[in-house]
Amino acid sequence: MAIKQTKMKITSICCIGAGYVGGPTMAVIALKCPHIKVNVVDINELKINLWNNNNLNKIPVYEPGLKKIIKKTRNKNLFFSTDIKKAVNQSQMIFVAVNTPTKTYGEGKGMAADLTFVEKCAKTIGEYSYSDKIVVEKSTLPVRTAEKIKEILELNANPGVSFEVLSNPEFLAEGTAIKDLFKSDRVLVGSDQTESGLLAAQSLVKIYENWIPKNKILTTNVWSSELTKLASNAMLAQRISSINSLSAICEKTGADIEEVSNAIGYDKRIGKDFLKSSVGFGGSCFQKDILNLVYLSRHYGLTEVADFWHQVIKINDYQKNRFTRCIINELNGTIKSKKISVLGWAFKKDTNDSRESASIYVTDNLLNEGAEVYIYDPKVSKERIIDDLKNIWEAKKISEVDIKSKLIRLKIVDNYEDCFKKASCISILTEWDEFKKYEWKSLIPKMENQHIIIDGRNILSKNKMDKLTKKYISIGR
Ligand code: NAD
Ligand code: UGA
Repeated sequence: MAIKQTKMKITSICCIGAGYVGGPTMAVIALKCPHIKVNVVDINELKINLWNNNNLNKIPVYEPGLKKIIKKTRNKNLFFSTDIKKAVNQSQMIFVAVNTPTKTYGEGKGMAADLTFVEKCAKTIGEYSYSDKIVVEKSTLPVRTAEKIKEILELNANPGVSFEVLSNPEFLAEGTAIKDLFKSDRVLVGSDQTESGLLAAQSLVKIYENWIPKNKILTTNVWSSELTKLASNAMLAQRISSINSLSAICEKTGADIEEVSNAIGYDKRIGKDFLKSSVGFGGSCFQKDILNLVYLSRHYGLTEVADFWHQVIKINDYQKNRFTRCIINELNGTIKSKKISVLGWAFKKDTNDSRESASIYVTDNLLNEGAEVYIYDPKVSKERIIDDLKNIWEAKKISEVDIKSKLIRLKIVDNYEDCFKKASCISILTEWDEFKKYEWKSLIPKMENQHIIIDGRNILSKNKMDKLTKKYISIGR
């Protein structure tokens, strides 16, 4: 059932999913294409109310530069609402940017992508479309999902209505989303290689051409586009696990990972970016997308390929666990009743997102060992931090009594100075710029006398910290 008309002139679009991708991407399209009406819809009423809040500090996604764009476009050509049916009905092009988490049940549990939300969207689009539509996969999806979406659309379609499904994966990184959207390295549009598929792709290309140079807009077939997204994330995450595995060798040999990484990066073929050793990568996507790739490889009987990519996740887990073990070892093998502070909860700086943040796993390990844990983050809310921990406790089926005992030993503070008073150890888990600016010289004496600082992001100067503390430990140095 291909779309019958020639290239659509797009004047009205909507995006289902008002999250970290849907919000910023649609805000930028609205800004760059004032001739297009952009509706962003979500089932989460609370989130939509926050997007519509007059106080721009309350919008649900913190991203540098986003508030300014919302201020310029909201209620002009950018609208947030829960009325999904109306938005679908009014739009010529519908982006699907809903979450695609790892399955927590049934076949593929812990590996495959859960496509429940995507399938629901396809059904809704099918049911509430009364004219031809172009449906755009913005969510990250397993290869060949477009086929399933098409099936669901057709099964639920009203008489005479046709659909084209495009893949247009998003490559923005949180914390730099607006910068990435303004100056994308590339925009990828995958379509069926039929006449109507290629025309639909051109309609989407036309939107991006309002601000992205033509030579950066790539068109491919749908399956290449879907796979490229998973592969890009896997290649990026692989670099972090590679450098983190080398950081362990540095610690044994006296080499310095910062020097090694810098020198490696000088090779043009390798490049300097994404070689920063850390406590391990977090974020909602790297782990989920690699697991998805591993699952896909196993599904096609490609065991060696699956094992290769799975190792990227295993090294990441190893790095997070190594970090906690380091804290325990430095505190003479026991941290029971000792105050350990965690600076930074977000999975990276300049975002309020903490999904899969290393802090969650390190904190859980510390609480398991009986420590009193103080947490400070400049942007992540207290409620979010508690929810993150409760989610992993729930997944591990921890008893109510144990949860209570952990929560009693957990303090989330608004003032970072509270983290230092009588702390046995300060651990840095996010590379927030403000941590570099602290008056470390006056803060360190407030700690217990061992003065251990463990820097999981290598953000502080080793020379300076070695002078200020009895023990400054960083990754791979
Ligand atoms: P998110 O959880 O922030 O947002 C998803 C939103 O979809 C939620 O607000 C949820 O309520 C809504 N939703 C779910 N089902 C719905 C339905 N049936 N109808 C209406 N709304 C529905 O997720 P995100 O971080 O924006 O990621 C979305 C997708 O984009 C994922 O597939 C992710 O892998 C991909 N992606 C994310 C990033 C990133 O930086 N976060 C970058 C590139 C790609
Ligand atoms: C990543 C990709 O960079 C985006 O291109 C992609 O669109 C996105 O995933 C997605 O699909 O969701 P994001 O997770 O937002 O973006 O942020 P990154 O900058 O990639 O950082 C991910 C994690 O790796 C963070 O915890 C970060 O601190 C860590 N990291 C990054 C390192 O430890 N070292 C590095 O050198 C780089």
